[in-house]
Amino acid sequence: MSNARIIGTGGYLPKRIMSNKELEEIVDTSDEWIRERSGIKRRRIAADDEKTSDMALAAANNALAAAAIDVTDIDLIVVATTTADKVFPSTACIVQRRLGLEKIPAFDINAACSGFIYALDVANRFIRTGGATTVLVIGAEIYSRILDWTDRTTCVLFGDGAGAVILQATDEEGIISTHIHSDGKHEELLHVPAGVSSGYADVTVEAAYIQMKGNEVFRKAVSTLGAIAKETLLENGFEQNDLDWLVPHQANRRIISAAAKKLGLPMERVIVTVDEHANTSSASIPLALDVAVRDGRIQRGDLLLFEAFGAGFTWGSALVRY
Ligand code: ACO
Repeated sequence: MSNARIIGTGGYLPKRIMSNKELEEIVDTSDEWIRERSGIKRRRIAADDEKTSDMALAAANNALAAAAIDVTDIDLIVVATTTADKVFPSTACIVQRRLGLEKIPAFDINAACSGFIYALDVANRFIRTGGATTVLVIGAEIYSRILDWTDRTTCVLFGDGAGAVILQATDEEGIISTHIHSDGKHEELLHVPAGVSSGYADVTVEAAYIQMKGNEVFRKAVSTLGAIAKETLLENGFEQNDLDWLVPHQANRRIISAAAKKLGLPMERVIVTVDEHANTSSASIPLALDVAVRDGRIQRGDLLLFEAFGAGFTWGSALVRY
């Protein structure tokens, strides 16, 4: 069985930057409250004519350039998104066509903010079992389209963006293990109620937007992430000190700090982009990874822990030798 190694990373952020000050003019909030409660300073917002597939494609092209492979080497595309361009076809199929690829399998995964970890888990299994050799894994989201811009409890927390990695089969070390979980009983703590099979007849405007009981999600996220990080290290015979970098889902700086504290990791060994990107859901881990690879903090051979928590609830982790 082969291992799956990350051979290239790429990111894409829309041009428009929205500051906390700008939000002060839209809802009853303050720069101070947002920074203190979430660590967010600004976020990117997609242009009106920009779609999730546009951002996914841009991130994919950056990852392909970094990997220095031919696009035709890709034999599987997995896109993690909850904000697809269309009900169908999948965003992955749209990206496949725009990359000029034919016949290879391409599909989307919806696991909300844990989507990238789920996609990585699936791609890793394809490579380990010989089903694919070079996989494009993307996390791409336009949350600005599912935010109620009159609801201060949610609209200040999210942003738009896309991140991608190319995985390739190798005999060397790569993804060491992935772990994914879910618990559907918390559905209504974090959801967008509208959906195709729920019908559009009685749908309210609010149902098309994110509804979240933030403080309950916060508590669950902190305890769950602490547990999964320990579980992942233990299963692989590693200790906290072996980790070079924690690359967590970027929902809230306080959640990230609490997870790092439980792991005994100083914040200097945690990649944080929530201040600049806000929560970009399934794009947040590949975007954070790409930032730290490009600025030279993450080096070949480093031991990385990815961890995420999101709606569902879903949660997961990946231990990776970069
Ligand atoms: N500006 C000013 N005040 C606000 C704002 C705002 N933007 N939003 C809420 N408040 C107020 C509340 O109304 C409340 O006021 P009250 O005390 O008078 O009732 C007060 O601030 C405190 O509200 P809390 O919700 O208790 O604040 P908390 O410290 O929990 O922070 C936050 C809120 C930032 C949402 C936090 O709970 C959080 O990050 N939760 C987790 C989010 C998350 O991780 N989501 C998972 C991933 S998302 C996905 O899967 C799609």
